[in-house]
Amino acid sequence: MSLRANPPLRRMKRSQPEAGHPLGGNPEINSGIAASLAEYSSLLAMTKCMYPSQLLQQIQQDLSNLKQSGKYKTERFLASPAGPEVELGGKKVLMFASNNYLGLANHPEIIAAAKAAADKYGYGLSSVRFICGTQTMHRELEKRLAQFLGVDDAILYSSCFMANLGFFATITNESFGASVEHVDAIYSDELNHASIIDAFKLVKKGAVEKRIYPHADLAALDKMLTDDADKNFRYRFIVSDGVFSMEGELAPLPELVNLAKKHQALLFVDDAHGTGVLGKTGAGSPEELGVHGQIDVLSGTLGKALGGALGGYIAGKQEIVDFLRQKSRTYLFSNSLPPAMVGASLKALDLLEQDRSLLKRVRENSQYFRARVSELGFKTLPGIHPIVPIMLGQAKVAQEMSQKLLEAGLYAVGLWFPVVPEGAARLRIQISAAHTREHLDAALAILADTCRVSIKRMVLV
Ligand SMILES: Cc1ncc(COP(=O)(O)O)c(C=O)c1O
Repeated sequence: MSLRANPPLRRMKRSQPEAGHPLGGNPEINSGIAASLAEYSSLLAMTKCMYPSQLLQQIQQDLSNLKQSGKYKTERFLASPAGPEVELGGKKVLMFASNNYLGLANHPEIIAAAKAAADKYGYGLSSVRFICGTQTMHRELEKRLAQFLGVDDAILYSSCFMANLGFFATITNESFGASVEHVDAIYSDELNHASIIDAFKLVKKGAVEKRIYPHADLAALDKMLTDDADKNFRYRFIVSDGVFSMEGELAPLPELVNLAKKHQALLFVDDAHGTGVLGKTGAGSPEELGVHGQIDVLSGTLGKALGGALGGYIAGKQEIVDFLRQKSRTYLFSNSLPPAMVGASLKALDLLEQDRSLLKRVRENSQYFRARVSELGFKTLPGIHPIVPIMLGQAKVAQEMSQKLLEAGLYAVGLWFPVVPEGAARLRIQISAAHTREHLDAALAILADTCRVSIKRMVLV
């Protein structure tokens, strides 16, 4: 039986209430409403019955499995802004787990810029960009980002995650008017970020063949590209993080640029952890590695070094950016960035341009910390990035250690399988320009006190 068999609600609304009748209106209509409500309630009852008995039980089981296997993520509630120290559970702890590389997340000039933008442009746009959600400052930020990154243009998204989804779904799904089905090939580093892996899932079935190359293995990648040379793929994409976020390791970008040229592939680099951190001007891992302006497509975030709130972008050739603006669904059908975030991001770029001391400080702090932590006997991965992994091996050690460190006043995150490979559990320490030498020494002292370290064995005390 259809709910529509009863009198439409539009007519019922217009009728006058009848004195003494609980529903008001005329009796014929009221009996229609009653029948509709009865049918609606029975549908609801059926839904209620299926929902908790199966799905909720399965979810409960899954959650308890996660807890039993030590994989359940607990969130810690900070009672202060982000910074080198934060308030947690009524006490101050040293923060060494944040992507706040330049210390801008609570910088007075960034906050002032956010407030000024909100005062001038309001709180939000209540719209997507192409309807009525584009303010002059959105376009200004896109142009500034493009200039900063050494490319033609940039397009803002609500996050880097959305930018990555938007790029691949748009370009690889598009037939560009061709009548024959196409197949593109994507060559992706095995350690690429989750947003890249998920981006491939939005690609239409059959439109893409995925090849996952062993981490940073250029010979393997070259071989894959060579083996595929005669396979008639429409376009080929090499995809890599600029900085691998669990390792703090830079991708071999100059070699990837060469491979892309050699095999006529497009090179896509997600530089979420590089932009605002690496390179002479902070333009990221391409600048650090001497290939500034040579990456075909860059994605990045405004949620880490460049202010730490929210927002992402794709930057590259004019045609690519123009096309995404027309066709990218995660751009077209999602609200534009709030003015406060746009204003603050512009200020972050100003600060980077005017004063390189933040870049210098985060680099010096990272070098200092990396050197001292190795002297203490901890095993780290070599590098220059402010992500400093301390390799521990077993998940249990990483879990216990991060907990003990927190109790001692150091907030550092432990990572274990499946976030990192089995047996490669680690602590991920993240350094900021906002850390003073005292913060760094205090963190090192807590690490040393919490663990009696020998190269072979680590003992928590
Ligand atoms: C490499 C990489 N790409 C993308 C993202 C997602 O960035 P956003 O928070 O802007 O969505 C992250 C965040 O952790 C990241 O590390």
